[in-house]
Amino acid sequence: MSELEALAAEIVRCTRCLLHQGRTRAVPGEGAENADIMFIGEAPGFHEDQQGRPFVGAAGRFLDELLGSINLERSQVFIANVIKCRPPGNRDPLPDEIEACKLFLDRQIELIQPRLIVTLGRFSMARAFPKARISHIHGQPRKIGGIVYYPMYHPAAALHQPSLRRIVEEDMQRIPELLEQAARMSETALLVEAEQLSLF
Ligand code: URA
Repeated sequence: MSELEALAAEIVRCTRCLLHQGRTRAVPGEGAENADIMFIGEAPGFHEDQQGRPFVGAAGRFLDELLGSINLERSQVFIANVIKCRPPGNRDPLPDEIEACKLFLDRQIELIQPRLIVTLGRFSMARAFPKARISHIHGQPRKIGGIVYYPMYHPAAALHQPSLRRIVEEDMQRIPELLEQAARMSETALLVEAEQLSLF
């Protein structure tokens, strides 16, 4: 069992917050263990709670479409959420639920080591950009601690507000270029490290 699978098994048994009482299944996340890109949504909804898999409802179908538009499949990326259990009635996650779940997402990021993290929606964005407004910063990448963070609107927001759909589609189109830049950055960082080592 990989460390990521062991972590998923821990998440499925978690009782760190009250959401475990109402869940059908926890939703640890899924995808490639060595993915270059990680997508982080908000919380499982009805279908995700039923199936134990992320983004399998209407927002998930749109996410699949968006991935397809840049020639990616789910299996090539890793998809997770800020919180791993469904809030009742799909309400917003509470601060103590986000806090209780934080160590799981932190560890997933540590194990996967993605080059690019795409945050979907404001709760996911808030991890990297605590005070920002999504309407101001969507589509603007920022490098934090060796990872490029790229905030996007949540696909469900675009389903509810048709005017956002084009924006989400356009922001998605920049991902291949960002990924290339992120890969070049980390090659340069490795070269600099190697050069520094050779000085000693
Ligand atoms: N919305 C999310 O944020 N995550 C899911 O897994 C499904 C819908």
